[in-house]
Amino acid sequence: MENPTREDVKEFYSEAADKPQEDLCCPTSYPQQNIDHIPQEVLDRFYGCGSPIINAEIQIGENILDLGSGAGIDCFIASKLVGNTGTVIGVDMTDNMLHVANESKILVSDNLGYSNVEFRKGYLEDIPVTNKSIDLVTSNCVINLSQDKTKVFSDIWRILKNKGRLVISDIVSETETTEDIRKNKQLWGQCLAGALTETGFLTSLEKTGFYGIEVLKKDFWKNIENINFYSITVRAFKYQKSSKCDFQGHRAVYNGPFKVIIDDEGHVFSRNQVVEICTDTLEKLKSSPYLGSFTILQPNGDKTELPCCTTENNSNGSCC
Ligand SMILES: C[S@@+](CC[C@H](N)C(=O)[O-])C[C@H]1O[C@@H](n2cnc3c(N)ncnc32)[C@H](O)[C@@H]1O
Repeated sequence: MENPTREDVKEFYSEAADKPQEDLCCPTSYPQQNIDHIPQEVLDRFYGCGSPIINAEIQIGENILDLGSGAGIDCFIASKLVGNTGTVIGVDMTDNMLHVANESKILVSDNLGYSNVEFRKGYLEDIPVTNKSIDLVTSNCVINLSQDKTKVFSDIWRILKNKGRLVISDIVSETETTEDIRKNKQLWGQCLAGALTETGFLTSLEKTGFYGIEVLKKDFWKNIENINFYSITVRAFKYQKSSKCDFQGHRAVYNGPFKVIIDDEGHVFSRNQVVEICTDTLEKLKSSPYLGSFTILQPNGDKTELPCCTTENNSNGSCC
């Protein structure tokens, strides 16, 4: 028997859209002020496992995309948080979910006094959004359902703007799931069988090129056949490197509190030590999530051209 397919997942969530399911995923609740503009039909069909939108420190005017938006709860919360200058796109493959979301959209915009949410039919693996157009990608208990997670992560990278971020809640396992679990349609639909291990999830983000990866929350969810499953919320950033690392005389001093840290490219920063940095690293250290951890010393007039940092030439952290 094969692993469950996308069609199996669609069927599962088509039913969950028609008839609200209790306890489909780990119980999560949102503060009342975040949901008081959202119809009950949507709240009854909340199948998430975290609160990525609340953990994302959303700014007014941001362009947000929610992957696997379901009945639309996270899109509607985001709609209020970005204000009428921001935009929110929800993407889902299941018609019945999109139907509930689109019907509820009208009431939400009446309650807020503006309309900034759009739902698009599409797949996580081929997101119907143009390149580099999104500030923040969120997703709530969906990536585990995909049969091709590598493609999902690379498509998130494609649509994010430079310095954009993702905040994703998902189910992960402590150890690899067994073949028996993976082939179980019910457990796949319940966001368990398709879960990556926590290490696998974080490594996939790293391999895609994301940096500044941080587990913001982690809660135990279930034990099945001696495998522990957790709900985690992860944040990571995109930075598109320039074609060459240009050293313009900038230096960085790591402020602490740790004695020494290593960034995703292998640069080693010891507390209170001056380190030369190229323009790419400068851009990263000047913004989230590193902002405030470093003191940047401005150029002294010297200028040195260095080859671009890649994982090949920078394994010892000596490049730029
Ligand atoms: C567990 S529900 C979560 C829904 C929503 N995020 C929430 O918190 O209520 C998963 C949703 O992802 C959608 N989905 C699953 N796999 C998908 C895929 N490969 N492409 C697009 N949507 C998908 C399903 O249709 C379903 O609406």
